[in-house]
Amino acid sequence: GAAVEVDISGLAPGTKMVAEWRGKPVWIMRRSEKQLADLEKIEPQLADPNSERKSVPTPAYALNRHRSIKPEVFVGVGICTHLGCSPGDKLTPGPQPSLPDDWVGGFLCACHGSTFDVAGRVFKNKPAPDNLEVPPHYYLSDTTLLIG
Ligand code: FES
Repeated sequence: GAAVEVDISGLAPGTKMVAEWRGKPVWIMRRSEKQLADLEKIEPQLADPNSERKSVPTPAYALNRHRSIKPEVFVGVGICTHLGCSPGDKLTPGPQPSLPDDWVGGFLCACHGSTFDVAGRVFKNKPAPDNLEVPPHYYLSDTTLLIG
């Protein structure tokens, strides 16, 4: 399929935009400093913090804690690795319905309750077998992304 060019110059910290690539929603999210700091804190709660599982291989340039090229910008396919629902944003930290009281923010798949952090890493003991897919991508410039 054709690669998709995305202008991310208007993407504010803590917000997310959605592009379409090969019929899939691709999330592009600029994480705040607090959200980046929490990525390390929550690792004991994650099923595969280092993205070592291979069913959805993570590109080499995203094999890091933030799962991205630029630490602040996450690029991931917004489709649950369980049965393909699209997880919803639950980015506000703190107690929320159906989430743990110490929720630091991330995504909840309402279909069967899988939760993901803001790097798309799945929490332990959830039906989703894998972290969210990171699609092939690179930067054409500081604010222009090519997905595919
Ligand atoms: Fe997401 Fe089942 S499809 S938890």
